[in-house]
Amino acid sequence: MASSLLKVTGLQVAYGGIQAVKGIDFEVREGELVTLIGSNGAGKTTTMKALTGMLAAQGGDIEYLGQSTRGKGSWDLVKQGLVMVPEGRGVFTRMTITENLMMGAYLRKDKAGIAEDIERMFVTFPRLRERKDQLAGTMSGGEQQMLAMGRALMSQPKVLLLDEPSMGLSPIMVEKIFEVVQQVSSQGMTVLLVEQNAKLALQIADRGYVMESGLITMTGSGQSMLDDPKVRAAYLGE
Ligand SMILES: Nc1ncnc2c1ncn2[C@@H]1O[C@H](COP(=O)(O)OP(=O)(O)OP(=O)(O)O)[C@@H](O)[C@H]1O
Ligand SMILES: [Mg+2]
Repeated sequence: MASSLLKVTGLQVAYGGIQAVKGIDFEVREGELVTLIGSNGAGKTTTMKALTGMLAAQGGDIEYLGQSTRGKGSWDLVKQGLVMVPEGRGVFTRMTITENLMMGAYLRKDKAGIAEDIERMFVTFPRLRERKDQLAGTMSGGEQQMLAMGRALMSQPKVLLLDEPSMGLSPIMVEKIFEVVQQVSSQGMTVLLVEQNAKLALQIADRGYVMESGLITMTGSGQSMLDDPKVRAAYLGE
């Protein structure tokens, strides 16, 4: 079995007195596409922020590449290849598409490789090529999501964390984004996908976890979860 890139044990995260994550265990192995689904306020984003060092854990541990991330800042983890596309995307609105993509590669020195990768992003996302000199802030929500993913990929991550990439997008755009996630995954990228769109997420995921009120309540392969009557009733509206 592939080794664990991320291993979370007993993770607890609180905001002041409010416990948002109440002791969860999960792992993401090399090459896997794992999804974390759950409704509003379940603690998914809080978990992602703890993984990336943006929030400190109150208890438990997170191992990345076999080492505890305790005491490591976001910056250390980004340099080690743990890269998140946050909820709401966070593109640089006053920079062009191309400049945003270049920013994703700012830790890299291989100029030729960077140029090649920008070309690859334009093949993956033709829309970005059409608009490469446009300011990112004037792009549609879906286009900004593509750009945010493209920028993250430009850093050549080891693990890509996506926090609700489908949020606020039209069905066609959502489909396109999921297609790209699946494609990136099939090329070998390890992906942790947080989603409220449980059906689409489970359809492309190797494995899934359900999060409810700060706890993980179900887990299994993507397919077994799609078939699970409890998941179907609570998350697939069936
Ligand atoms: N900065 C904060 N201060 C206080 N409470 C917070 C803060 N951020 C989140 N919370 C609370 O923690 C809980 C978990 O929030 P979180 O953002 O992790 O949920 P989520 O699963 O990502 O939900 P959504 O699907 O709506 O994005 C919620 O009850 C939320 O109100
Ligand atoms: Mg969230």
